[in-house]
Amino acid sequence: MRQAESPTKSYYITTPIYYVNDLPHIGHSYTTIAADCQARYHRLLGESVLFSTGTDEHGQKVARSAEARGIEPQQFADEVASAFQQMWERLHINYDRFIRTTHRDHVATVQHVFGQLVETGDIHLGEYQGWYCVPCETYLTEGELVNGCCPNPECQREVEQTTQEAYFFRTSAYADRLIEHIENHPQFIQPESRRNEVLSFVKEGLRDACISRSRMEWDIPVPDDESQSVYVWFEALISYLSQVGYPDELDEFSKWWPPQIQLLGKDILTRFHATLWPAMLMALDLPLPETIFAHGWWITAQGEKISKSRGNVLDPYEVAQELAEISGATTAVAVDSLRYFLLREVTFGLDGSFSWRGVLTRFNSDLANDLGNLLNRTLPLVDRYLNKIVPEPGPGAGELASEIERVRSIVEQEMAESDFSAALAAIWELVASGNKFLDSREPWTLHKEAKQVELEAVLYDVLDCVRVLAIMVAPFMPAVADEIWRQLGLQSGQVEKSWDDCRALALPSGITIESGRPIFPRVDIKRTMDRLQGQSERTERAKQEEAAVPGGNSIAIEQFAQVELRVGTVLEAHRIPGSDRLLRLIVDLGEEENRQIVAGIAAQFNPRELLNANVVVVANLEPATIHGVESQGMILAAGAEKPEALIVTDRDCKPGTVIR
Ligand code: MSP
Repeated sequence: MRQAESPTKSYYITTPIYYVNDLPHIGHSYTTIAADCQARYHRLLGESVLFSTGTDEHGQKVARSAEARGIEPQQFADEVASAFQQMWERLHINYDRFIRTTHRDHVATVQHVFGQLVETGDIHLGEYQGWYCVPCETYLTEGELVNGCCPNPECQREVEQTTQEAYFFRTSAYADRLIEHIENHPQFIQPESRRNEVLSFVKEGLRDACISRSRMEWDIPVPDDESQSVYVWFEALISYLSQVGYPDELDEFSKWWPPQIQLLGKDILTRFHATLWPAMLMALDLPLPETIFAHGWWITAQGEKISKSRGNVLDPYEVAQELAEISGATTAVAVDSLRYFLLREVTFGLDGSFSWRGVLTRFNSDLANDLGNLLNRTLPLVDRYLNKIVPEPGPGAGELASEIERVRSIVEQEMAESDFSAALAAIWELVASGNKFLDSREPWTLHKEAKQVELEAVLYDVLDCVRVLAIMVAPFMPAVADEIWRQLGLQSGQVEKSWDDCRALALPSGITIESGRPIFPRVDIKRTMDRLQGQSERTERAKQEEAAVPGGNSIAIEQFAQVELRVGTVLEAHRIPGSDRLLRLIVDLGEEENRQIVAGIAAQFNPRELLNANVVVVANLEPATIHGVESQGMILAAGAEKPEALIVTDRDCKPGTVIR
């Protein structure tokens, strides 16, 4: 029997910790499903696995989102953190640790690391060039000034240039070591294309990172300096250390450190995980992770990144529920089918386009036609000819042994590279071999000819192949694997799945198979797509009717669709000095950065009454400079000559929500 490399080998895998100003969507789920798949695979190998994920809860944005909802930031973070946990449970994600950056252990680790790096000279107090408003005692950046004055509407006084004290981390000191490390460890940054990108970025020189901000009550204070908070990114990266007990629980820490692999999206590789993070570890004299793997983005069929700021996010559980409804599969199987789609559809590292047609096509062709079919053909034969009892292998059994061995070795190689899609493609070669074997050995003919020994050998081999497949697909589709296991009668025989058992002739004889309904009922793709497209077809019809209106100066629906209208929450409103007509608004559109919008409504509206209003924003308007202030959008108001009323939503609505 083949042994796992070492039964006690430890395997530490991480996902990014997700911001709580966003609900979990398909993008976050992708990273977490991939990590879950690796974690499950390594558990099957017999390794000791720590799979950690969590939430990134500090920062001004969270504080503001909470304020907008009129609740404490902690309550806000609690709600979103539990939404993430619930989503992971629904998507069959079996994490070991869920870190929240508001947890006191993490806060203590951050302050310890900060203090330690001050001692080693890697963090120093530096000067941050900026502006200062004396009456308000506020530091301001160039971009925050309004006509060179304090943006506070109550103040609007002249500001003076200042140098603010802030802490800097010496990233620059580690550039040469980092280049050397990347060059000598080809596995460190993956995939290859990203590694090259990172190398050229580092070779251009690294700048020291400013790692503190003026104190915000919601953030972690810099130790011994209450005037400053630790910059959220610096703090978030430290969560990978606090998750494993750094610095106090040394046994725990040395058991897991360094991570074998850290998974993340390409958006947060170069500036953070591939430079600042390794430099921090070098400064702390800690080994670097073995691999940092940056995967691609899921984009829509229109080529847009799926993200909250674009308002095109998909709730993966809703997708799975819909798939269950369409196909008649259980929700657990539909969730696994979605996991399968995400991991099979694109090579890990490349961008993937998410579409219903893609999901349904994979569901029908790979799951219903190939894997489901193998199971649905085999079990009734065992029921009919062998009274449901798994036979003895007997002479002549084990015909699929070398194919199983071949596929297992490919899967092992592909999983070592995190190429989930290639691993699944190899597993599906074994599915095809199982189906072909049934076709060529014709158990129905053997039965007719009363060749009982041969019949038993053939059916044993196919059942055994299905058992191996259940183990192989378990990391990708755990509920499906359990259901196959159950139908094979192995659950009741209390046989555990183990990667070592991906070999022929290990199926126990004499157990009774259980019947079950088909796991993957086929979908009528055409009908489903027609139904899903019904909406857009209705739109199309409306467009034609519109065009038929004689003499009307109507526009086509596509023309209207070019205007991107979104809900924006007004966070700040200030008068623009020197103008009676203009207000400068800071609006949350659910994007990374808030928008600055100049609105000609100062004569009709008091800045204070606009605060927290959910206005309608034309989000894709070209930026323009009005009265020396850049305006990144426009808000809508009723009134031809002058604004008479603002257009606002009639109930609470998330910033960034699309208006159609
Ligand atoms: N909080 C930081 C990470 C700190 S880690 C020390 C953060 N959070 S996030 O909520 O914005 O999550 C970013 C991660 O979500 C990406 O790195 C990626 O893993 C995942 N994705 C978000 N949208 C995505 C897609 N459309 N497609 C694929 N993954 C994406 O950044």
